[in-house]
Amino acid sequence: MCGIVAYVGPKDAAPILLEGLQRLEYRGYDSAGLAVVNGKSLKMRKVKGRVADLAEAVPARFKGACGIGHTRWATHGVPSDVNAHPHLDHEQRIAVVHNGIIENADALRQRLEGEGVTFESETDTEVLCHLIARTVKETDSLDDAVRRALKSVVGTYGIAVIDAQRPGEIVVARNGSPIVLGIGEKEMFAASDVAALVRYTRQVVHLEDGELAVLRADGFHTFTSDARETAKEPFTVDWDTGHYDNGGYEHYLLKEISEQPDTVARTLRGRIDDRFHIAHLGGLNMDARETRSFRRVKIIGCGSAYYSGQIGAQLIEELARIPADAEPASEFRYRNPVVEPDTLYVAISQSGETYDTLAAVQELKRKGGRVLGIVNTVGSAIARECDGGLYLHAGPEVSVASTKAFTSTAVSFALLALHLARVRDLSPADGRRICEGLRKLPEQIEQILKLDEHIKTLAEKYAQAPSMMFVGRVRGYPVAREGAQKLKEISYVHAEAYPASELKHGPLALISHELPTVAIVPDDELLDKNLTTLGEIRARSGRILMIGHRTADAADDCVVVPKNETELDPILLTIPLQLFAYHAAVALGRDVDRPRNLAKSVTVE
Ligand code: AGP
Repeated sequence: MCGIVAYVGPKDAAPILLEGLQRLEYRGYDSAGLAVVNGKSLKMRKVKGRVADLAEAVPARFKGACGIGHTRWATHGVPSDVNAHPHLDHEQRIAVVHNGIIENADALRQRLEGEGVTFESETDTEVLCHLIARTVKETDSLDDAVRRALKSVVGTYGIAVIDAQRPGEIVVARNGSPIVLGIGEKEMFAASDVAALVRYTRQVVHLEDGELAVLRADGFHTFTSDARETAKEPFTVDWDTGHYDNGGYEHYLLKEISEQPDTVARTLRGRIDDRFHIAHLGGLNMDARETRSFRRVKIIGCGSAYYSGQIGAQLIEELARIPADAEPASEFRYRNPVVEPDTLYVAISQSGETYDTLAAVQELKRKGGRVLGIVNTVGSAIARECDGGLYLHAGPEVSVASTKAFTSTAVSFALLALHLARVRDLSPADGRRICEGLRKLPEQIEQILKLDEHIKTLAEKYAQAPSMMFVGRVRGYPVAREGAQKLKEISYVHAEAYPASELKHGPLALISHELPTVAIVPDDELLDKNLTTLGEIRARSGRILMIGHRTADAADDCVVVPKNETELDPILLTIPLQLFAYHAAVALGRDVDRPRNLAKSVTVE
């Protein structure tokens, strides 16, 4: 949620930190700050607002070759200058930036107040800063002080710490909130996300939970919370700064929607086996016998990832005939789930760092569950925690609302379903049919993107409605849920998704001219039933925007998308809803890429 960046090397830290913070701004953005060591003292600036406001507040003579920076998304205490990070101790010796939540902050604060410490902010982070500042006086080593201070802390953190007495040294630590080290030429970086590093280096090292690192210009070393040294292998990230540019589009969201023909093609690349009409998925780390042995599939993820998991569950059940269902990871992890040896668990996450999903995976692993990950970010915590899986290869997704990662996840599920199905009972002919359908997707997405002007006109027409209903049956239902999610998160128009079959069991009471319905109506075996539902809505004066493969008299407006194989249709039906939400948000003057109250990556509970 919040972003951390740190630098030590021969250059001035401030411009590097500001550039890194800009790259991280999408993670959280109600305030920003930075601190550098200058001689044997700290210089610090922090402001409520955007990184651009911070850049204005940093004077030209803000020198120092070792520093830390932060963008904040408020958890403890309102967004304000004083609650912004870094936090300093009274002697201005220690500066700390922190992502995560310290759960015993109140108790620690009381203890420290009892010892005479006065607090300036309402944050949990300041507690940590005073703890480190007190401990550093008892030991000659910053890393030892941080390690010992963290022993009193309950909760999650990714932190970066500098000490005015130790210019040229940064200590970072991770527990539940990501920290990545970047290795440069006689310089070292750290950040909460590789996005902040790729301009300077592609050689990175991920810290594990419970690990700390000391960074100096000439290198780094890592160790555990009980002071045992650890060995780390750097790996090379293949995303570069170009992936983080908006490519001339007005918004990252529109860029990412438009990229989908390419991103879907990348997800498919090298994975369709034409000889046996199966998916080639080496990352599953399972042979055919093992793949056959599962009797159930359970999919977990949060938000849009969960909705893509619902599409996935249907694909697996339809093609492989294995009972499958999806559940929010945020619920799953709290209900002491029964973990069965013959169930295949699949965790979905674009960022690979969503805390609830990570915690659910860890719970599954603790109970001996076999977990695959469908993840976009290579080397992320969830990817590392899983037994195997598929990377999306969709490239970094910057806009808070997920679009290209959603479609690539659904496509990954189609590949997984095909694979599970072909080691079971799906015929070669049906396997070929699905392979051919998958190949058509990029071109068909291209065709849907050409409907942009039409969808824009519709979005402008419906955006003024105070609320909207989204309905779909079976394959159309997760599409409706994702459509409602996109609309509410970026346009703030209230939207509710219902199975079309459930309307008459309650929500039909809401239907009127003032509450338009977006109906997902594919040309499948349920078409007639869906058209009957449209008639019921129409009879209550409800306005209807239909997304499907044909027009219908009962609908006021229609968006007609190309038809694929019935099982794959949900992937394509999602795309007009992304454009609809985008144009509605623009029409209402919303901050499309940075919707209020949301952050790209939810790394706290
Ligand atoms: C999607 O538009 C949302 N921003 C959100 O629901 C997101 O999908 C969810 O937080 C999960 O994120 P992840 O894929 O990074 O785990």
